Amino acid sequence: MKATARASANIALAKYWGKRGCPGNYPAVPSLSVTLTQLTTQTTVEFIDRLPRDEFVLNNVLRSDRARDRVGHLLDEVRARMLRPLYARVTSTNTFPTASGLASSASGFAALSAAATKAAELSWSNERISDLARRASASAARSIYGGYVLLRAGPEFGTKDELSATPVFSATHLPLVVFVCVVTDREKEIGSTAAMLRTQEMSPYYHSWIEHAERTCRQIQAAIEQRDLEHLAELVESNTLAMHASALSVGILYATEVSARIVEVVRRLRACGTMAFFTMDAGPHVKVFVRPEDATKVCLELERVEGVLRVTKAAISDVSIRWESDL
Ligand code: DP6
Repeated sequence: MKATARASANIALAKYWGKRGCPGNYPAVPSLSVTLTQLTTQTTVEFIDRLPRDEFVLNNVLRSDRARDRVGHLLDEVRARMLRPLYARVTSTNTFPTASGLASSASGFAALSAAATKAAELSWSNERISDLARRASASAARSIYGGYVLLRAGPEFGTKDELSATPVFSATHLPLVVFVCVVTDREKEIGSTAAMLRTQEMSPYYHSWIEHAERTCRQIQAAIEQRDLEHLAELVESNTLAMHASALSVGILYATEVSARIVEVVRRLRACGTMAFFTMDAGPHVKVFVRPEDATKVCLELERVEGVLRVTKAAISDVSIRWESDL
């Protein structure tokens, strides 16, 4: 009753920001992401006889905080389907630094969902594993798949329906290179869950954000389908700025002056004919997308920006989940 799985991190081009009112962690808006190469979480789950409670070791540190509770809740859903429910020992390692500017919850809960269902000997489909991951952290539903991945909004009213992500295009359909520009090593002050809840409760712009997100997500999918990079760039930036504006209206300012400087560089590059566009998540780091042929030049420009600590390069991966036998 032991299994190991690895899952890749993802970056949303159309953001998930806001939840439906019903329980079950259903997103209020559709989102679309790319799954990244190299940046992964590897997780081993072992269900053990007579273990008095779940154990969670993350990057060699035994956790007894909210992180352990979130893991425990996901395991409870798996245990509910086991003939002989047992507690588990979970060991998880990120192959990218925690302060790398990438959320590890997406790859973390995707790897946990895959490893836990396999260790429990449940032969679940990817759809069902994606649904399980979504309940723990909605962006994790997308990390079950490679390439460009869509997660639809949840149903408006209370439901127990399955909602899983769907792969929509392969990485080769529109190959892009992503630079993650890390601007601080400090932990963020307010995490994505708390920030999106505050936005939906208090922002005067929340309803406009929902409308904007639905429309831009649809348009982003169409621009990818048509390989229309210029339109894609405008839409992705508009989507991320609207998300950040809704958070800003409730006092949450993730961008710093270094983030603003990177945005300026991206705009200058685009004005001078190099296709580059940015997006930002619940933190000050900026992710920059470029064509593979422009990668070297753009990387040099980004590394030169005052205040940028590191620039990590990734590409879009067609595979996310890897099992122990493939590692
Ligand atoms: C800004 O998936 O971390 O990265 O479902 O509450 O765990 P929970 O939220 P989470 O939110 C991710 C928000 C985002 C945008 C995105 O990845 O779509």
